[in-house]
Amino acid sequence: MLSLDILTLFPAWFDWLGDERHIKNALDGELALGIHDMRTYSDLPHHAVDDTPYGGGAGMVVRVDTTVAAVEGVYGQPLDDVRKQRRIIALDARGRQFDDAYSRELAGAGAITLLCGRYEGFDQRVLDHVATETLSLGPYILAGGEVAAMVVVDAVTRHLPGALGHDESAEEESFAPALDGLPEYPHYTRPLEFRGWEVPEILRSGDHRRIAAWRREQSERGSAS
Ligand SMILES: C[S@@+](CC[C@H](N)C(=O)[O-])C[C@H]1O[C@@H](n2cnc3c(N)ncnc32)[C@H](O)[C@@H]1O
Repeated sequence: MLSLDILTLFPAWFDWLGDERHIKNALDGELALGIHDMRTYSDLPHHAVDDTPYGGGAGMVVRVDTTVAAVEGVYGQPLDDVRKQRRIIALDARGRQFDDAYSRELAGAGAITLLCGRYEGFDQRVLDHVATETLSLGPYILAGGEVAAMVVVDAVTRHLPGALGHDESAEEESFAPALDGLPEYPHYTRPLEFRGWEVPEILRSGDHRRIAAWRREQSERGSAS
């Protein structure tokens, strides 16, 4: 079972998420997904959650007090207790880079909270004292953590039992342990020939040993291009 909560300033971004097929499957089984509006828990005027930066500069910063209020409000427990029960992951471009191994690790984590930043990002004290870790999608800047959270939910959910249909598998995918972390081999389907572009002969041979060897060779070559 994976309890996965998302704390965001833009909960409407996630409206479609539960309709996506593998996430829907997981919601019927191993996944409990919660989307929480951080503003709901703010006592500040207009439910503000951000403020201007000390030291000056452009942009607003997501406050530590409103972030703690959101975490404690969602779980009805003091922050320290919440931190003992679940991984609290702040989405941040400078964090640990998300990859297949990280997604598998989170699928087995039991309980996760994703904190979506906005504007200039979180007050550093959120990263130091509220989050248990930081996660980055890569070395580039998104407008907010929402898209990053969706990527995490999508990738992590694929590893939950029952999320994928019988004709799909998260095992022989690019970067999976089953492929020794290599990219996946190329796939082909009908038509056999299109505009002179042919399916490799070996895939039509019916010789499963040769096909497996060819696929391995393609993976080792990293043949996506
Ligand atoms: C505009 S960004 C803030 C960028 C920040 N001032 C910096 O230079 O690193 C606002 C929020 O988007 C999210 N974000 C942006 N890029 C991200 C990335 N590569 N991975 C994960 N989250 C990201 C984070 O939650 C961040 O707090």
